[in-house]
Formats: sequence, C-alpha cells, structure tokens
Amino acid sequence: MNTLQLLSFGGALPQNKVTNNDLAKIVETSDEWIKSRTGIAERRFCAEGETASGLAIRAAAQALERSGLQAEDMDCCLCATLSGEWAAPSTACLVQRALGLRENIPVMDVNAACSGFLYGLAAAKGLLEQTGGKYALVVGCEQLSRLLDMTDRTTCILFGDGAGAAVVSLGENGPFALTLGARGGDAIRVEGPGVQPTAIRMDGPAVFRFAVEAMPRCIREVLEKSGESMDMVDWFVCHQANERIIDLSIKKLGADPAKFYKNLSHTGNTSAASVPLALNELWESGAMKPGQTLVCVGFGAGLTWAGMLLQYRPLAAQTEGNA
Ligand code: UT7
Repeated sequence: MNTLQLLSFGGALPQNKVTNNDLAKIVETSDEWIKSRTGIAERRFCAEGETASGLAIRAAAQALERSGLQAEDMDCCLCATLSGEWAAPSTACLVQRALGLRENIPVMDVNAACSGFLYGLAAAKGLLEQTGGKYALVVGCEQLSRLLDMTDRTTCILFGDGAGAAVVSLGENGPFALTLGARGGDAIRVEGPGVQPTAIRMDGPAVFRFAVEAMPRCIREVLEKSGESMDMVDWFVCHQANERIIDLSIKKLGADPAKFYKNLSHTGNTSAASVPLALNELWESGAMKPGQTLVCVGFGAGLTWAGMLLQYRPLAAQTEGNA
C-alpha cells in the first residue's frame, strides 16, 4: 500500500495584527475572557490588497522552494479553502498559474472547512495514485476576516487569516493511516452567497462538545489503523480552534502534552490554514526532525473530521538514507 510523506512546508500570515484589546473596542469582550476561554491572544487580518490566494501563493512558493523540487515536478495541486476570493477559477488554479506548475495535472479546491487541508492531502494521495504521479502541492488558505460579523462577539474573536502549504510525496514504506468523516449539520455555517451579508454563524458550545469527542477519536483511529502506539508518535498537530479543546483531548487520551504543538495564541482559528500553518511553524522552530511520525487532526463545519498519521521524510534525508 502507498503511504503519503511530508517533504516540506510553507506559511504566510498577513501583516495586520489584531489583538484581543483591539476587538474589545468593537464588541463587549475582554482580553481576559478571550484568553481564558480560547487561548487566543491575537490573530492576523488581511489588509487592503491582501487576499486568501495571495497568502496561498506565498505559502506554496515557500513549500516548493524548501522541497528541493521544481515547479514541473508537481503532479497535483490542491487548495483547501472556504474563503477564496473567487468561486472560479479555484484558488488552486491561481496558485498553479503563479508558480508555473504544469498544465496536465489535476488542480482543484477542496471545501471541508477546518478539516480541509487533511481532506486535501487524502484527495491528493488518491489523485497521485490514479494519475501515476508522485509529488503534490497541498495548500490551506483563508481570509475569514471578510466573512466575520464584527458585531457578533461569539464568533468575531475566534477567527484569523493565513495560509499554510506542504509538498508531499507518495511513498512505499513508513507508517501511514487516514480517517475521514462527516455528519451533515449546521452547528457552524458560513452564510452566502445567497444570504447577505455573508457571515460565520456558530453554536459554540455544541461545536465544543463535538470537537472534544471527534479529536481523541480520530487520534485513536489512526493509531489503531497504523498499528502505531501513542509513544511512537513524535508530534500531534491538531486544528487550532481552542486551547481548551486540545487540552481536554490530551486529558481524555492520557497523552503527553509536550507532543501537542499549539500556535493558536498568535493565529486564532484559521480554518483550513490551521493545520498546515502549525506544521510550518513547528518545522521552522527546528523541533520537527526527518523521520519523525506525526498525527494531524482536523474538525469543523460540516460537521467534518479528519485524522492522518504520516512521516516527515524530506528528500535530502531520503537521499542520505537516514530517515
Ligand atoms: O473550527 C471549528 C470551529 N469552532 C470551534 O471549535 C469553536 C468551539 N467552541 C468554542 O470554542 C467555545 O464554545 C467558545 C469559545 C465559542 C465559547 O466559549 P464557551 O465557554 O462555550 O462560552 P459560551 O458560549 O457558553 O458562553 C458563556 C458566556 C455567555 O454569557 P452568559 O449567557 O453566561 O451570560 C456568552 O454570552 O460568555 C458570553 N460570551 C462572551 N463574553 C465575553 C460569549 N462570547 C463572549 C465574548 N466575550 N467574546
């Protein structure tokens, strides 16, 4: 059976920092409430002229450059987003054009909300297998700030903009497992284009209950499918929605908190960009080493969920044969 391996990462955040105190000037909230209920201290919002696709292109270019591969080596390009500025052409096609990827490859967007990047990796694996390809560029990007109702304190304090990307490769060995699912329902919804103004609406406590059930379940499922134990996993990179959701999941699993990477304090919830942005920051910190095993988990609107266990095997380490 084929596996999927992570080769390289990229990320992009807009310049404009929005602190909790900035939001407290707009809605009735406080830095103390937001930090204690979510773990978020600040997030980035696109400024005039910045877009979801612009962030996606920056993140994708960085991942490609760090992979050691060329644009013409990419056999597939997928972008997970629910807030790309155009419905068509897809954001993935905008990335393809900007990076000069080949024409005879599959290029499309995936919308599975906050699980989108992992759905994208799974779809990329299937497309590579069907087309005889080897390398895929997968991006998650969002400009959620343009969908926020800035009078709704239950949602506007949670979300941010950003993009993350990874170059992945089909592999023949190493651990790999995948779990994907969905339960149609509207506990989180992004209204529009039929409803104006477009806004993110959410039953926060219902989503919280769903998340603390789905996240540990996804982790258990990929461990069971791969035959790996919790101890064999070096890093857990979960959707960065709420620090309390991650901490409760750790508690339920009896897992080592030091293995759960968190960056939501400065990004907020960036939906499809959340997992790849966190992967990129973990890599940039120098803590992710070639040959390490990761479990990534997403959950979100749909309701959708996704878990993936895979290895970080950069090309340089594969050539040296030490990963
Ligand atoms: O990407 C996936 C999508 N989303 C999520 O994962 C979100 C999951 N849910 C959550 O993270 C949490 O439910 C929230 C952070 C959204 C809310 O936290 P909570 O602890 O579940 O609070 P709550 O909704 O039960 O509200 C508690 C109180 C309420 O006041 P009363 O009714 O007790 O008087 C709210 O009106 O907090 C109030 N409240 C706020 N107060 C200050 C709600 N939002 C705010 C706010 N500032 N921003």
